[in-house]
Amino acid sequence: MRIETSFTPIPEIATELLAVLAVDTQAANGRNAKPQPTLLVSDPAVLAAAAGVLATGEYKGGANETILLHAPAGVAARRLLIVGLGKQAKATVHSVREAAGTAIRFAKPRGIRKIALALPDNFSQSLPHAAVARAAVEGAFVGDFDPDTYRSERRDQSIEALAIAAPAEAGHNIIESAVAEGAIIGESQNFARALINEPGNKLTPTILGQHAAMMAQKLGLGWEVHSTEMLRELKMGAFWSVAQGSAEPPALIVLRYEPEGVQDGPILGLVGKGITFDTGGISIKPSDNMEKMKYDMAGGAAMIGVMRAIALLKPRVRVIAIVCAAENMPSGTAQKPGDVQTAMPLAPEKPGKTIEVINTDAEGRLVLADGLTYARRLGATHLIDAATLTGAISVALGKIIAGAFANDDDAYARFEAALSVSGEKFWRMPLGEEYADLIKSDIADIKNTGGRYGGAITAAEFLHTFAEDTPWIHLDIAGLAWVEETRPFIAKGPSGVAVRSILEWVRSFSSGAQA
Ligand code: BES
Ligand code: MN
Ligand code: ZN
Repeated sequence: MRIETSFTPIPEIATELLAVLAVDTQAANGRNAKPQPTLLVSDPAVLAAAAGVLATGEYKGGANETILLHAPAGVAARRLLIVGLGKQAKATVHSVREAAGTAIRFAKPRGIRKIALALPDNFSQSLPHAAVARAAVEGAFVGDFDPDTYRSERRDQSIEALAIAAPAEAGHNIIESAVAEGAIIGESQNFARALINEPGNKLTPTILGQHAAMMAQKLGLGWEVHSTEMLRELKMGAFWSVAQGSAEPPALIVLRYEPEGVQDGPILGLVGKGITFDTGGISIKPSDNMEKMKYDMAGGAAMIGVMRAIALLKPRVRVIAIVCAAENMPSGTAQKPGDVQTAMPLAPEKPGKTIEVINTDAEGRLVLADGLTYARRLGATHLIDAATLTGAISVALGKIIAGAFANDDDAYARFEAALSVSGEKFWRMPLGEEYADLIKSDIADIKNTGGRYGGAITAAEFLHTFAEDTPWIHLDIAGLAWVEETRPFIAKGPSGVAVRSILEWVRSFSSGAQA
């Protein structure tokens, strides 16, 4: 999708479809009051073209509600699409993100290839122009993605060109750079989604490593992709215990971003779970829905997507990403319940922590244990991990909000601030001694499951054992990494959740950025 910015008066934009936004301005507590759809553009020609349909009451301006007008009078565009943001009082920058996606997904199946989206010109206190422009472009890219890569006759027909139409009085440079930023972020989220979408046979750990390396090479990031030998050398016994059952070798993917002239300050360690297929191993999963376990590398893909955006946006902070990629398989060489593994030590001369593997299906925490330790060894001062770690997080929070855990309030405060920019929903979950007690083992230092209750929290405490006192955030995205049903603004399939939030968290550390 090609993106351009336009400051042309919107009635003069010749395009296949012009999308404008509307809010419902009905008085907040008017219980039986009728919805009052109000366009967020003040151009008289557009208002006149829409007046008739808005007067009928058939369109309410609800969130992502659309209505299409053909050959609108007085407007050069062939079609006028009105997209709702919902109640005015609740409309946010994120509502615009979704509405832009809705406009794109409205156009795609109708053979429309060129569209323009008018930014609000009369609602700017709560919807600042630059933030809205950026979010609209992000939402447009997210909406443009469809997962039918392997259909012989692909139904997915991407939008060719999107023009972001900004009011003439908006600062041109500010809007143009916001649009460019939005494109980088939206494309990086889609880069992650494309990886997540790949089936296990097409995306082995080795191939995931190749994709990461190609991206890094192209964009000037440092990179290394290691395999079995390096795991042995580093004594990554926890990571290897998952990989050992598969014919596919593991990949330890390391991506480095070292901006010129930044020699001190924090080093951020981004650690992603990259299980390219999770059968459960010897503790094998039931076959119902097992095909979904190709997305068990969504956390790792998110980190690769974040690094892509970082390479292009160039924040002034050093970042290392580590993706622990393996296939979790049952076989004659697979680890068994009861096996004891020794995790990577923090220093070569120190002993590694020992882990009793109760359930081979709790493999994500095993690979992340060594990933977190390795990030600390490479000098990470702050850690963030993302993983489709537990079914239990969906029991706790549904498939509406993702889980977040942190051992450090300052690091988490930055993450919360990042959420207000990304529009993503995470809820901070507790950690605590009493949960940590549930993963004590009779034979080893810890065990890899903590019983039936509080499963997302005991999983987080397992990771905490390896993050120790390094400021650390853990994101359990198991419930949100896959969109179960198509929505107006996003296709069903991989969501790319966490990319935007982690990126914003990283940018908050950029020297010169507001803390
Ligand atoms: N990859 C799964 C978690 C998962 C479940 C992700 C559903 C996405 C959707 C993880 O490796 C796993 O199997 N976790 C187990 C842990 C249990 C054995 C302690 C789980 O959640 O059941
Ligand atoms: Mn598992
Ligand atoms: Zn898993």
